[in-house]
Amino acid sequence: MRVVKFISLAVILVLISVFAAAQDAPAQAPTVKHVPITNAPSNSGQEMFHSYCAVCHGTDGKGNGPAASAMKTPPTDLTVLAKKNGGKYPADHVAAVIRGQAATPSHGSQDMPVWGPLFSSISQGHEAQVQQRVTNLVKYIETLQVK
Ligand code: HEC
Repeated sequence: MRVVKFISLAVILVLISVFAAAQDAPAQAPTVKHVPITNAPSNSGQEMFHSYCAVCHGTDGKGNGPAASAMKTPPTDLTVLAKKNGGKYPADHVAAVIRGQAATPSHGSQDMPVWGPLFSSISQGHEAQVQQRVTNLVKYIETLQVK
């Protein structure tokens, strides 16, 4: 039941944001619709990124997705994670953020969905597949890093 609640939460967040951004009228009451999380292939970091992350972080990872303007905290520019970390890509940190085990800079804003339980649900609780999802996302985001 906990997992189901998490799913609705993340999906609702994304839909509200998209609606607000598309209408360019965040003050208007948004239409909330429940849709199931899609099952993007766990072996493609790129497809998962486009399905799960691009709505906020942008397809290029720079933080300018369609929902970005509706966020209290702007989505992080994911292309400068290495640059901001002295040139070293913080893979472990990125993995922890995706799973919801790391404090994000604006911890407590909860603007970023917690993906661990969502991935666990679409992977039928198979931890190996959840791990594969996180690993492939982390690797894909590494390819987006600017020098
Ligand atoms: C609903 C919008 C939204 C979605 C969808 C989203 N994020 Fe985020 N993300 C944010 C926001 C907003 C932040 C800024 C930090 C915060 O909220 O504390 C963030 C921050 C991050 C950070 C940086 C944290 C840090 O410590 O610098 C990473 C890494 C990240 N997101 C990865 C992802 C990945 C990978 C996905 C897809 C699986 C994803 N995000 C989906 C909104 C989103």
